[in-house]
Amino acid sequence: MSVTLSPSASSLTAGPTTAANWSPESWRSFPIKQVPTYPDEATLKAVEGRLKSYPPLVFAGEARRLRGHLADAAAGRAFVLQGGNCAESFSEFSADFIRDTFRVLLQMAVVLTFGAKVPVVKIGRMAGQYAKPRSSDTETVGDVSLPSYRGDIINGPAFTSEDRIPDPKRMETAYFQSASVLNLLRAFSRGGYANLHRVNRWNLGFVERSPLAERYRALAERIDETLEFMAACGINSTTAPQIDETEFYTSHEALLLQYEQAFTRVDSTSGEWYDCSAHFLWIGDRTRQPEGAHVEFLRGVRNPIGIKVGPTTQIDALEQLLEILNPADEAGRITLISRMGATKIQDHLPGLVQAVKGLGRTVTWMSDPMHGNTISTASKVKTRSFEAILTEVQGFFDILTAAGVVPGGVHMEMTGQDVTECVGGAHQLTENDLGARYETFCDPRLNAEQSLELAFLIAEELNSRARTLRKGA
Ligand code: PEP
Ligand code: CO
Repeated sequence: MSVTLSPSASSLTAGPTTAANWSPESWRSFPIKQVPTYPDEATLKAVEGRLKSYPPLVFAGEARRLRGHLADAAAGRAFVLQGGNCAESFSEFSADFIRDTFRVLLQMAVVLTFGAKVPVVKIGRMAGQYAKPRSSDTETVGDVSLPSYRGDIINGPAFTSEDRIPDPKRMETAYFQSASVLNLLRAFSRGGYANLHRVNRWNLGFVERSPLAERYRALAERIDETLEFMAACGINSTTAPQIDETEFYTSHEALLLQYEQAFTRVDSTSGEWYDCSAHFLWIGDRTRQPEGAHVEFLRGVRNPIGIKVGPTTQIDALEQLLEILNPADEAGRITLISRMGATKIQDHLPGLVQAVKGLGRTVTWMSDPMHGNTISTASKVKTRSFEAILTEVQGFFDILTAAGVVPGGVHMEMTGQDVTECVGGAHQLTENDLGARYETFCDPRLNAEQSLELAFLIAEELNSRARTLRKGA
């Protein structure tokens, strides 16, 4: 196993392999958006110093392995499911929350595996998703304006001037909490909780509770029969560990660069730099400027990188980003996460897909059908409609397939809880229901049932596309 060391502790004699003119702190001389100004600089420096000395959360070898899986997804040999909270929080920190989100992701993955007929790569927005970009620097309630909440790693959600002051000590809390979440996720992944038969039983239970049981039952029963058949053939957890175990990766937006820098270490096996705060890091739609600090930072780390691609993405800027972040055009390095909105995807995505294809670049295309579909109700509650989310995913599949490009995966904001934040779905949640359990710290998430329903619908879609391809072959 490779061991990730701090640069000073590295035993490499040749020194680390470093991108030209890059260092873990070179981002500091580039224009930066969306990061806080900490009033207490002395504490900030002290916290950064301590974080640099703490053990990494993930190993470089794991991030490399994920890069390989993402390369498979670009080639149609795997499908990616990335999901979790919009924002993790310090208060929603319990085994139950972690277990419930993990369980729904596993359930979705089984259904998607059956639909896609390829392995599903599971990536949680977990164990580090604490920093949030905001559209506005301030939030106004009545005649009081305060700095916006930017995620628990930066400031507090309460609408008080005290809570909204950026506090560097929150980075340490985020680190220890991430370590604890990751520890449980590793235990669940390897300790038998992810057993396929058990996950399938949960799915059968979901189908029976769903008002659309008739529609989903056929797929669930085919999965059930397949598992029984495999068991009859002697494929069980003793003969095939995949029945009992799964690989699970973590991800978050690489937004708070002071924190990310502290976990950027040299891998002793390869001599390369990795950001060991998570396996997969993405650049948000608001911080993807080619000349900006976030791109500069991610240029030098070797993790697989996501780039959010929204309706304002220009073709030339995207080309520049691909050149800066992946000059050698390495498969698996870049995942482009399309987040256009159901009404905009047809206008904006086809040109970008064609342009990337025309450049001969290898990327993994993924759909985030959440962030372009946020709407405000008459009473100013942020929500998303299940129908718009589904329409965007279908549009994504259509556009990529028409261009002869592989749709590599989906990216969801979801939770294992029975919240009421997105409208629609089989239980037909309406705006009037939103008040019942509206618990998100940031964007509205699909609840457990809506998430599973979406997985069933995407699996149906993938399944029928695979059948059409097989017929055509
Ligand atoms: C997010 O994924 O939480 C997010 C803020 O997305 P985007 O940058 O695409 O708006
Ligand atoms: Co969000």
